[in-house]
Amino acid sequence: MSDTVLRPFAWSDVPAITRIYRHYVDHTAITFDTEAPDETAIAEKYAALTRLGHPLIIAERAGQVLGYAYASYYRPRAAYRFTCEDSLYLDPNETGKGLGRVLLTELLAQSKAFGFKQMLAVITADTANSIAIHEKFGFERVGYYKAVGYKFDRWHDIVHLQMAL
Ligand SMILES: CC(C)(COP(=O)(O)OP(=O)(O)OC[C@H]1O[C@@H](n2cnc3c(N)ncnc32)[C@H](O)[C@@H]1OP(=O)(O)O)[C@@H](O)C(=O)NCCC(=O)NCCS
Repeated sequence: MSDTVLRPFAWSDVPAITRIYRHYVDHTAITFDTEAPDETAIAEKYAALTRLGHPLIIAERAGQVLGYAYASYYRPRAAYRFTCEDSLYLDPNETGKGLGRVLLTELLAQSKAFGFKQMLAVITADTANSIAIHEKFGFERVGYYKAVGYKFDRWHDIVHLQMAL
């Protein structure tokens, strides 16, 4: 972990982010996207995040993107502007090694500095490690929604966890 660097997003990260995210779209119900976005769609999404100035962090080792994290508005309507939702995605070869903890620590710090007051994590209910990492950071379970996603021929529940920043 000592050779891992955290840095802001750069446009050259788009191919790596696309590759990592497509893996989770194609093979898991961790994200409710069902069509894997291409690099153009990812670039558009990150352009919007960049314009908003929201925290967008890349974890890198020896020039290789290992994962990324960002916080963005939980909902677009203006009264939600102090409430963010987090997203953390590690290269599948980099999970289970403590990198999620490093990225979430920095994301919480940058989200607080940005001015967000509450962070929500919206997690597919059977994603045990993602729920576990958030609870270890002090997030509280505040909501459970049954059968709100349909992917890979079955219904998925989601959990909402929340932390005041
Ligand atoms: C979720 C994710 C960010 C977590 O990061 P990570 O570095 O892989 O974290 P780990 O799997 O090592 O687990 C984090 C903690 O939960 C614990 N944990 C893992 N699986 C667990 C389980 N089934 N039950 C209880 N605790 C568990 C780990 O022991 C670890 O605790 P520690 O830090 O005290 O050792 C990463 O696995 C990932 O990118 N997953 C795919 C995408 C995803 O699910 N993103 C979240 C959607 S927002």
